[in-house]
Amino acid sequence: MHMLEQLEQTYHRAQAELDGIRDKDTLADWERRYLGKKGDITVALRSTGQMPKEERAAFGKRANEIKNALTDAFTARETDIQAHELARTLEEGELDVTLPGRPVSMGGLHPTTQTLREISAIWAEMGFQVYRSPDVEDDETNFNLLNIPPHHPARDMWDTFHTTTPGVLLRTHTSPGQIRAMHELGHDGTEPIRVILPGMCYRYEQISARSEVQFNQVEGLAVGRNIRLSDLKGTIAEFARHMFGEDKRVRFRGSYFPFTEPSMEVDVECILCEGHGCPVCKYTGWLEIAGCGMVHPVVLQNGGYDPTEWSGFAFGMGPERMTMIKHGIKDIRYFWQDDLRFLEQF
Ligand code: DAH
Repeated sequence: MHMLEQLEQTYHRAQAELDGIRDKDTLADWERRYLGKKGDITVALRSTGQMPKEERAAFGKRANEIKNALTDAFTARETDIQAHELARTLEEGELDVTLPGRPVSMGGLHPTTQTLREISAIWAEMGFQVYRSPDVEDDETNFNLLNIPPHHPARDMWDTFHTTTPGVLLRTHTSPGQIRAMHELGHDGTEPIRVILPGMCYRYEQISARSEVQFNQVEGLAVGRNIRLSDLKGTIAEFARHMFGEDKRVRFRGSYFPFTEPSMEVDVECILCEGHGCPVCKYTGWLEIAGCGMVHPVVLQNGGYDPTEWSGFAFGMGPERMTMIKHGIKDIRYFWQDDLRFLEQF
């Protein structure tokens, strides 16, 4: 048969078949048979080169026309089939738009973050602003300026992470922030200040159920012209009642910190046994919640204040410990384990 005639026949067959196709799979098969790499039209086009010269131009031209026509027809059919399939799916109700959505799993605030926010809110109500101080501190501010000189035995209270830069360390407590706050917010000893300093602290310690190498503290500092021990006691007691309950008793025990004089530790009546004695309070009826005291004159001076005119109180509390007390958590290590079974309870 004449090549051109054969081509026309293939064209008509392809067109007729295409008109009858109603589904994707048959359409794909059709495309492979006619327009694919080894498809009839492609093969015919490729054979143009071997044809007698006088037929070549006419055949090539026609074959290209047919290829384009079939490609267009294919695309039109494809669009048509897709539209039909979508319409059918909708009609058959396979897509039920009334079904409730899948729940999105939501993150939550870490229990310590919740406690930190609670603590900040209570102090904010009493006029304390938040001041941020760096985690990476110098030896001078973390110790010396807080009245803890290099060979002072009190340095044993804080096992330190040193960096490879001499004199630079990870703060062992938030107290160095006191010095920075006094200079910055107190304008070198000319303005009164009331701040809390929340943040992470680091200690090179054996990790156990009761101590971690990193933990938060909330430091507090008030400096003014007439601040007395009774202000400290009243303010801390007010905080404890907000935090643990209006009816809770608070007591102060004498203690020692190099940066305060006098120094005290604060206990609140055990919130679980209400003072009767239980394992959480180790049968004492009391829970320790903070260290505090009147700012040592040397520290006031290092912050730029004249200690003969200014005085102040300071405190430091542990939000992880408070969270443990509040929720009866027995092991501080849970806080850093990222275990959802623990975290999802809060
Ligand atoms: N810096 C102390 C510590 O880490 C806590 C502390 C105690 C802070 C008494 C104070 C304070 O401001 O007055 O153990």
